[in-house]
Order: sequence, then structure tokens, then C-alpha cells
Amino acid sequence: MRRLDQLLTNLGYCSRREARAWLKAGRVTVRGAPATDPGQKVLPADIRIDGEPPDHPDNLLLMLHKPTGLVCSHDEREGPNVYSLLPPRWRQRYPAVTSIGRLDKDTSGLLLLTDQSPLVHRLTSPKHKVPKIYRTLVDRNLPPGLAALFASGTLMLPGEKDACAPATLDVLSEREAEITLTEGRYHQIRRMFASQGCEVVELHRTRFGALELGNLAAGQWRELPLDYFA
Ligand code: URA
Repeated sequence: MRRLDQLLTNLGYCSRREARAWLKAGRVTVRGAPATDPGQKVLPADIRIDGEPPDHPDNLLLMLHKPTGLVCSHDEREGPNVYSLLPPRWRQRYPAVTSIGRLDKDTSGLLLLTDQSPLVHRLTSPKHKVPKIYRTLVDRNLPPGLAALFASGTLMLPGEKDACAPATLDVLSEREAEITLTEGRYHQIRRMFASQGCEVVELHRTRFGALELGNLAAGQWRELPLDYFA
């Protein structure tokens, strides 16, 4: 059970102060009767807001096809973000909807979003070794021996004290490859290629664990069952 006003604010409907006004205006009912006490303890299933059940009262788990040009940070100073693609109410929720790991502004593809921080920690921890698959295009022919180097677990990136975990590189053409990582360091793929003299010009994530982006269009998202990763 949660306080009614807290439920409304946490689900992104309104502020605590506005909740009082919503109750006065008769917009909220509890088990069919107009609610009058903002502090009343309620179950989400018992309330209606403007006649509708509350919007996703439990949690959110989404798979988004991130387009390039948007950042995963909530900080507006870093530019337009992926959360702008979600319904406005979901952007006001608490806990906030956040990405599970990040993709760079110039990277597209499969991005998971949730408001469940334990899930974020579980799926981003290198301990869990969730494989993530990216397609990449570089600015020159891939140097020989790159797959063996990436697989070796010895590649050191400038400024880091631990070698990159072994990564699988499947060469698709002279300048294109698919790369599988089980960790997620800052700009990792761009830096791995840069360390060998190649600039990544396109980067797109196609898979996250068993999840595939499939034909979800850029900018679109779909919900996943909350127990998908249970
Ligand atoms: N590696 C990168 O360099 N960028 C990403 O967005 C993801 C992995």
C-alpha cells in the first residue's frame, strides 16, 4: 500500500501539491468513491484517475531502437536524449526510467530502459558477462590479426589498468565486422578499433543477451515482460 498522493507523483501524473487539487476536483476514485484524503493508503488496483486505471503501476521494461543523435544521459546540457521518445508521463516517474548501460550519441541500436535499478546493476555488471553484439563499419581495411588480438584478452586501452575482456570479432567485409562484448567500458568499441589505427564510422547494436532488435524501427520502442530477465 502506498499513499495516494505519492502513487500519483511516482507514476508521473502530477506533483504532490497538484494531487490535492486533483482530489478536490474529483478526478481520482478509490474503489469507486471519490478520494478525499491524499494520505490515504491505497493499492494501485483500487484507484482510477479520470476513470482510468493507473498507467503501469508496477515497473517498466522497454526495448528501444535508439537512433543516432540522442544521448542516454538525463542531463539536458548533454543534448537531446532517448527519454524524449517516451510518453511525457513516463519521463516524470520516480524512480526514473533509465537506460541499462549506455550507447554513445553516434551509436544506434538496441537499448534497454527500465525503472528497476537492481536490474540495471545486474545486466551491466561485467561479472554477469551478458553478450552484446554490434555491427561496425570502419574507415579503412581491417588490419590482419585483429580478431586474434580482440579475442586474446590482452588488449590494453590507453589510460586503463586492466586489459579488455576477450571479444569476438567476425569479419563481414574489408571494412565491416560484427563484434561481441561482454563488458561495457566508455566508448569501448571505438577505442578498441582506434588502438589499432581504425576509426569507427558506424556502430549499431543488434543484440543484447538473447534479445534481438529485429525489425523495430529507429525511434520505436516496445515493452518487454517485467520478468523477461528473471
Ligand atoms: N562501444 C562504443 O564505442 N560505443 C557504444 O555506444 C557502445 C560500445
